[in-house]
Amino acid sequence: MNRTVRELASLANIALVALLALSLVALVGCGGPSMEETAEVAPMETFPPQLPGYAAMTVPETNPMTPEKVALGKQLYYDKRMSGDGNRSCYGCHVQEKGLTDGRAKALGAFDKELTRSAPTMWNVGYHENWYWDGRSGALEAQVKGAWGGGNMGASGNDGAPSMDQVCVNLMEIPGYAEQFTAIYGEAGCTPDNVGSAVASFMRTIISSDSNWTRFRNGDDAAFSAEAKAGYELFSGRAKCINCHDGLLITDLQFHNVGIGVDGDTVADPGRMNVTKDEKDNGAFKTPTLLDVSKSAPYFHDGSVATLAEAVHIMATGGIANQWLDEENLREVREANLTAEDEASLVAFLNALDANYNIEEPMLP
Ligand code: HEC
Ligand code: HEC
Repeated sequence: MNRTVRELASLANIALVALLALSLVALVGCGGPSMEETAEVAPMETFPPQLPGYAAMTVPETNPMTPEKVALGKQLYYDKRMSGDGNRSCYGCHVQEKGLTDGRAKALGAFDKELTRSAPTMWNVGYHENWYWDGRSGALEAQVKGAWGGGNMGASGNDGAPSMDQVCVNLMEIPGYAEQFTAIYGEAGCTPDNVGSAVASFMRTIISSDSNWTRFRNGDDAAFSAEAKAGYELFSGRAKCINCHDGLLITDLQFHNVGIGVDGDTVADPGRMNVTKDEKDNGAFKTPTLLDVSKSAPYFHDGSVATLAEAVHIMATGGIANQWLDEENLREVREANLTAEDEASLVAFLNALDANYNIEEPMLP
C-alpha cells in the first residue's frame, strides 16, 4: 500500500469510527451498553499511541503491545548494562539533541569499533516495513537482537564480551527487572527474544504526533510559517522531492540510488544490493524521513555531508551522476533547475520539521 493510500485509509477509519460512535449513542439511547461499556470501545485510543492522519501501525500478532512491555522496553533501551562493554545504550546512538541520531558520520559501536554507516533517526520507525539503510531486517523484534548482539551494542559472546543470554542472566539479578520480566513473560523471564519483544514495543511508541509537520498535514494551517509553507509547496510541487520523500512519514520507505558514496564505477557500499542481489539496487538506500533533519547532521548513509544546505544542494541538483542513479525519480528534480533561492526555501521547510521530543528518560531499576 503506498503512503497516500495509508493516509486515506486513516481518514476512512475516522469516518468508520464516527459511524460506530453514532451507532453507540443510538444503542445507549435505547438501553444499550452502559457508559462504562461505551468507554471501553471508545475509538480514540490513547494506547498504543498513533500518528494522527495515518493508517494504524502493523503490530505483529505474536507481540501485541501492552503498557507494561513498552515500559520495560524503554528501560532496556536506555540501559548501558545491556551492552557488551557496559558503555552503550540503544539511546546513546539515537539521542534527542541529535534528532535521535548520534551526530557522528559513522557510529562508534561497542568497544569503540567504528561501524560502516551513519545512525538513522528513530522517528516513526514502527511504521517501516523493513529496517536499516538497506532494509535487511524484516522484523523490528529481530532488528533489536541484531543491534544488541552485533557491533552496535556488542553483546556478541565473542572475545570475552557477554552474550545476549549472559546479559539476560545479569538483568534477572536486578530485582526490578526480574519482577517485570516475570510479570510479562512468565517463567522464561529475560531471554533475547523477550528483550526483542519489549524493546520493539517501546520503539513502536516513538511517534512524531507533536510535530508541527503532523499538525500542518492534519489541517492546522497555523502550525507552519509562511516561509515553511512556501518551502513545502516547492518540495511537493516543482522540485519533486516527494517522488521519494512522500506522505506524512516524508519517505516512501523504498530504496534509491542518489549517488552518495559512488565514485565512477566504484560503489563504497552496495546497500540494498546486498539484500536483493539485484544489480539495479547497487548503491541504493532507504529514503530517510526528514523529521528532525535540522538536528541530525552529518547527512546520508555514510555521514559524508556536513550541512543541511549541502545535502539539499546535492538532492536539488538531481543527485550524483552514476550508472545506477534512480533517473526515473531524479530526472524531474534535475529538470526543475532549482535556484539557490529555491534551495534556501527547501531548507526553510526542512528546518520546520522538528519532531518536538516528548519522551522522558525512564528511571532504571
Ligand atoms: C553505536 C551506535 C548504535 C547503537 C548503540 C545502537 N544503534 Fe541503532 N543504529 C545505528 C546505526 C549505525 C544504524 C544503521 C545501520 C545500518 O543501516 O546498517 C542503526 C539503525 C537502527 C534501526 C533501523 C532504523 C531504520 O530506519 O531502519 C533501529 C530500529 C535501531 N537502530 C534501533 C536500535 C536499538 C533497539 C538499539 C539497542 C539494542 C540500537 N539501535 C543501538 C547505531 C546504533
Ligand atoms: C530518488 C528519490 C529521492 C528524491 C527525488 C529525493 N530524495 Fe532526498 N534522499 C533520498 C535517499 C535514498 C536519501 C539517502 C541517500 C543515501 O544516504 O545514500 C536521501 C537523503 C536526503 C537528505 C539527507 C537526510 C539524512 O537524514 O541524511 C536530505 C536532506 C534530502 N534527501 C532532501 C531532499 C530534497 C530537498 C529533495 C528534493 C529536491 C530530495 N531529497 C529528493 C531519496 C530521494
